[in-house]
Amino acid sequence: MFNRGPVSVQNAGPSAAGLPRFMTAAPGQAASGLGPDAREATQLAILFIEDSLADFTLMRAVLVDAGLNVSAQCVDTETTMRQALAERAWDAIISDHSLPTFSGLRALKVAKEVGFRGPFLIVSGAIGEETAVEAMRAGADDYVMKNNLRRLPPALERGLREVQTRDQRQRAETALASAHDQLNAVFSATPVALFAISRERTVTMWSPACEDLTGLGSTDTLSRSFALPSQPDTWKLLTLIAPALDGTEVRGLPFSIETKGENRELLVSASPLSGSPPSGCVVALSDVTHLAHAQAELSRSESQLRELSRHTERVRENERAELAREIHDDLGALVTRIRADLALARRRSREKETAQLLDEAEQMVASLGEAISRIARAMRPPVLDFGIVAAIEWQARDFAQHTGITVNVHTNQDDLALELEQSIAVFRIFQEALTNVFKHAQATRVDVDLFADDSTLSLEVRDNGIGLSSDSLRKRTSFGLRGMMERVHGLGGWMDIGGSPQTGTPPFRGTTLMISIPLNPPTLSLPGGKSPHHEPEDQE
Ligand SMILES: Nc1ncnc2c1ncn2[C@@H]1O[C@H](COP(=O)(O)OP(=O)(O)OP(=O)(O)O)[C@@H](O)[C@H]1O
Ligand SMILES: [Mg+2]
Repeated sequence: MFNRGPVSVQNAGPSAAGLPRFMTAAPGQAASGLGPDAREATQLAILFIEDSLADFTLMRAVLVDAGLNVSAQCVDTETTMRQALAERAWDAIISDHSLPTFSGLRALKVAKEVGFRGPFLIVSGAIGEETAVEAMRAGADDYVMKNNLRRLPPALERGLREVQTRDQRQRAETALASAHDQLNAVFSATPVALFAISRERTVTMWSPACEDLTGLGSTDTLSRSFALPSQPDTWKLLTLIAPALDGTEVRGLPFSIETKGENRELLVSASPLSGSPPSGCVVALSDVTHLAHAQAELSRSESQLRELSRHTERVRENERAELAREIHDDLGALVTRIRADLALARRRSREKETAQLLDEAEQMVASLGEAISRIARAMRPPVLDFGIVAAIEWQARDFAQHTGITVNVHTNQDDLALELEQSIAVFRIFQEALTNVFKHAQATRVDVDLFADDSTLSLEVRDNGIGLSSDSLRKRTSFGLRGMMERVHGLGGWMDIGGSPQTGTPPFRGTTLMISIPLNPPTLSLPGGKSPHHEPEDQE
């Protein structure tokens, strides 16, 4: 017997605090037990609780003989055991069952108390079956009789393996519990209603947001067959998510549901759960009711705005036409009478000086008449009189004459019976497009394509100028392009303008403006060569 303090045999380096060092072995080594090489490589720190030096030496020798690389210390009192446990980490504890001032069961208690997680084996010269059972119940991993120490190495190795398995399971359980907690937190926090159903349509998860949306709580739904308050809604939703139960994602399908007398607009997404076929699916219902209302409100006010703008345009065009008529009829008639009077006065005048003055006055009045005609024509779009095709051709010629820029008009129509509003819009857009070419493009040539079929009219204006940047389209003080856009949208069509900015010397790629508007009711293309209307003259 020896009890003169702890005995250490073979020095082992310190290992990870609190963890059995065996656990730090490379994966695979410990998990599958110790192979011959691993036995050599992995040093096991073993704390013996034994009062007999001979027994301690013998047990250590048995372990070493079995090929284990052992670093051992032997203690025989509770105090020295606690000290040893505090000083370093141990892979295993092998304890005698009965010592003079200590016992295996007490040692086991101490080991548990300090959180020792490695295997604890009890070795005894004589241990009754009852005591053995008690030791195992208390948490010992095995017990070995001193007269059969051959069992010690395999018992130790099995203990180490079991502890490792236990530890892995505990880690997996902790990870699982944490994942579960996180999932629960996401489930509770998300404003999106989430639920999961099995292939058999049994509800397996039901988030609090589902309750807000459907009025059904988890007690009404969990572990039951999926059912919304209304049966048609149930069937419709099950139909929408059916692909997910066959393994195909479902993304953002519209669905509406009535809850507490209120209609809710939803988007449904569903993801299959693992398995082939999937064991079920997780469904997300996003409430987009507010968005849908806001969108409806927005498009309502957009169409009101558009209607207002169309109305304003109509009023403006009417006023202009009215004014043009008055200028033409009243002022025009007046000018004609003044010219006649002046001519008469000129004929009757005897004095040369007076006759010259009357000549000049008559010329001025003639110029005034031309100006009045020009103004009246500019105010009253020629489409009103000649139809869109002739008006476009006339405008192109007029523009070319005044600017020196060549304009080529191509069309597949001799005339188009558009609604007046459509004609005026297309004509005004064309006028603004030409004005822009003159003001900004530095072009020498413009090509105009005016095409129409039964359903659509398209107008394309291409210049060979310097092009335009995307910034040009965002100028705060420019209204030409915006006005065009408004007119086109007002007629249910679309507009596109393109051309990147170019510098240096020509030829440039220029700018292309395209508009397309639906023709409803269908246009009437008059057969034959020329328009039934008379051609607008460049009359003054
Ligand atoms: N054919 C073109 N070639 C080059 N730049 C152009 C052309 N058409 C338009 N732009 C550019 O786009 C900008 C916006 O044109 P928009 O017609 O909207 O306004 P604006 O002509 O400048 O002014 P306004 O309000 O009098 O029409 C112009 O300032 C110009 O920079
Ligand atoms: Mg402009």
